[in-house]
Amino acid sequence: MKDKFSRDINYMRISVTNRCNMRCNYCMPDVVKNLCEKEILTDEEIISTVRAAVQCGIVKFKITGGEPLLRPKITELIYKLKKISGVESLSMTTNGVLLAESINELKNSGLDAVNISLDSLDTQRFEKITGFNFLNKVLDGIDAAISSGIHTKINTVLQKEINDDEWEKILLIAKENPVYVRFIELMPIGEGKNFFGISNAKILNEIRKKYQGIKTDSYVHGNGPAVYIKIPGFFGGVGFISAMCGKFCSSCNRLRLTAQGKLKPCLSFSDYLDVREILRSSEKNLIQIKLENLIKKAIEMKPREHCFETPVKNSETLRMFEIGG
Ligand code: 5AD
Ligand code: SF4
Repeated sequence: MKDKFSRDINYMRISVTNRCNMRCNYCMPDVVKNLCEKEILTDEEIISTVRAAVQCGIVKFKITGGEPLLRPKITELIYKLKKISGVESLSMTTNGVLLAESINELKNSGLDAVNISLDSLDTQRFEKITGFNFLNKVLDGIDAAISSGIHTKINTVLQKEINDDEWEKILLIAKENPVYVRFIELMPIGEGKNFFGISNAKILNEIRKKYQGIKTDSYVHGNGPAVYIKIPGFFGGVGFISAMCGKFCSSCNRLRLTAQGKLKPCLSFSDYLDVREILRSSEKNLIQIKLENLIKKAIEMKPREHCFETPVKNSETLRMFEIGG
């Protein structure tokens, strides 16, 4: 379905938990209260929401968290979601820590793609950023994903004076492997407000200085607003998600559903519609139609653009692990 600005809204990010087994400095503070089970949408509730979303023209779905692999029986949920008629693509964003042990099951359940976060290839730095000495587990997760043949992307957030020199090494993963390495500009959401990102324009400039013959790759590789390049001699590709320097709102195609069932039209505003309330307090035979109406309303509510550059207007106070990164 199109929104007020003629954007086709065909993609929903679904957070299935606010828990995480890491503590990235720009995402999750040290001490976090886990949501209790009752607060989180059940599998059946997520399935009903996806059924309604499909009726509104949403056909691509991403499972996020926190860390989605911490949700009990996540592969069963993936299996059930992928079976819903009209679900064209189902992918997951994960920190990769538990991926090696679950990738085959995930793939067999119908998962189409994984995005794995990786901000450093240096053990100590990795631990400084994420709070845990899990670099090897994540690298095993990346290897397992690539070996399984699932479509794999690596997400890297560069922070000034913390890991801004890592782009060169992380980029090389795309040289040898059929993966896309994507640089995501740090967004001033939640904890991210306290750190400084690096402009993707700067990284692209550095890449151009180092590699000749770079071409823009106009084929769309995912659900969203990433811009991709092809570097000669690279097996994989390189992408840029430039929320700040390349404001991508004109091509925004998404809604976000938090683990508690808040349906968010935009990342930077606190407005939401309550899916859980409909699921839990409506007459059973009215749930589907009410959900469809709510999703349509959320699409109509989508603002033209985010306001990250004017922090006072940025009304969202939830943090990234609560919204779904
Ligand atoms: N800005 C940009 N990316 C972020 N992520 C989490 N918080 C932020 C932020 N403030 C990223 C993670 C992960 C993805 C789910 O979202 O690094 O790759
Ligand atoms: Fe966990 Fe991902 Fe947030 Fe890091 S960015 S704390 S891995 S949810």
